[in-house]
Amino acid sequence: MLPPTVRLCVPAAAVQRSLRCGCWSQRQASTRHPDPGDTPTPGNPRVLITGGLGQLGIGLARLLRKQYGTENVILSDIKKPSDEVYKSGPFVYADVTDYNNLRELVTNQRVTWLVHYSALLSAAGEANVALARRVNITGLHNVLDLALEHSLRLFVPSTIGAFGPTSPRHPTPDLCVQRPRTIYGVSKVHCELMGEYFHHKYGLDFRCLRYPGIISADSEPGGGTTDYAVKIFHDALRSGRFECYLRADTRLPMMHISDCHRATLEFLQAPERQLSLRTYNIAALNFTPGELAAELRHHLPRLEVIYTPDRVRQGIADGWPMSFDDSNARRDWGWRPEFGLPELVSDMLSTIKAQTQKDHPRTS
Ligand SMILES: NC(=O)c1ccc[n+]([C@@H]2O[C@H](COP(=O)([O-])OP(=O)(O)OC[C@H]3O[C@@H](n4cnc5c(N)ncnc54)[C@H](O)[C@@H]3O)[C@@H](O)[C@H]2O)c1
Repeated sequence: MLPPTVRLCVPAAAVQRSLRCGCWSQRQASTRHPDPGDTPTPGNPRVLITGGLGQLGIGLARLLRKQYGTENVILSDIKKPSDEVYKSGPFVYADVTDYNNLRELVTNQRVTWLVHYSALLSAAGEANVALARRVNITGLHNVLDLALEHSLRLFVPSTIGAFGPTSPRHPTPDLCVQRPRTIYGVSKVHCELMGEYFHHKYGLDFRCLRYPGIISADSEPGGGTTDYAVKIFHDALRSGRFECYLRADTRLPMMHISDCHRATLEFLQAPERQLSLRTYNIAALNFTPGELAAELRHHLPRLEVIYTPDRVRQGIADGWPMSFDDSNARRDWGWRPEFGLPELVSDMLSTIKAQTQKDHPRTS
């Protein structure tokens, strides 16, 4: 809780908004009847995940629900959830550009932790800069104001894309020059700075991890520059051939999705006194498309990869870090990745094969 004197300093916009009291609407009603045993445990956080139906939200919700109870973790998005997601726990519609919609949700659902995943990623952002500004910057301002007003713990991921060609690239430390050249990167630097500013000025419990490119088998990536490292597995298994939009020697930091979810949970749980920073790099591994293809060929020796660099995405990748220095995260809150390249490749292949078997039992 903020001391009363500090609370008076909440920005005028937030105070004004607080006067526009939202009211209960059917749209925000819990969409699922709790199962016996799902009863929220007093003392557990009530977590809202925005943009929760993208590559990362559903898996993080699964992990948080195991830890804190299904009913305590609410997924939200502007997309319609699949039957499986809808049945697995609370889901609500939430548009992060609509402050009143979010405010109603936080109030009615008694949210205490907010995980802000909504964003347009690097390639998607370059394709629609105006929308990226609205979602990534206006959306962020809305959650910052709400988090301040309701004393929420606020987690927002940043990215390797928050750095640019003038940053040290191999490795990139936590604190250095950040001059990104994408709207995605600019919005994430803005997020890091605004979150830290609100932390230092008002005591907001803002927490931010710079994720590398995240690799997952059961969720589709959402328009980033590192998406090739997911698609290659699907194409390799389906056709034995992959056309890569980056050059073979483009080195980027990457991470298996389960390391990403675990890092997020451990960081959310870390006592505030252990955090010397509010924005940390986290690293696991870094590789080039050529090295990934070579590791895949240990399993699929006939894999053919052709390289057809795409001007936009190659340009973005050429200005990004090749590796991350995450020594502060390791020292302050004990971050350790589990997946190296061989483990990641084996896991991706076996998970995608199992899924294909499940979806098309006769054809695979
Ligand atoms: N996936 C990665 O490799 C990666 C790497 C670094 C950082 N991140 C960050 O992690 C977060 C989650 O990434 P992701 O890969 O799941 O992204 P994603 O693109 O897969 O999903 C983003 C979600 O945001 C939703 N969204 C869009 N506009 C919205 C709006 N107005 N209101 C509410 N929701 C809206 C979309 O419907 C989508 O489901 C993002 O902030 C991203 O910047 C991801």
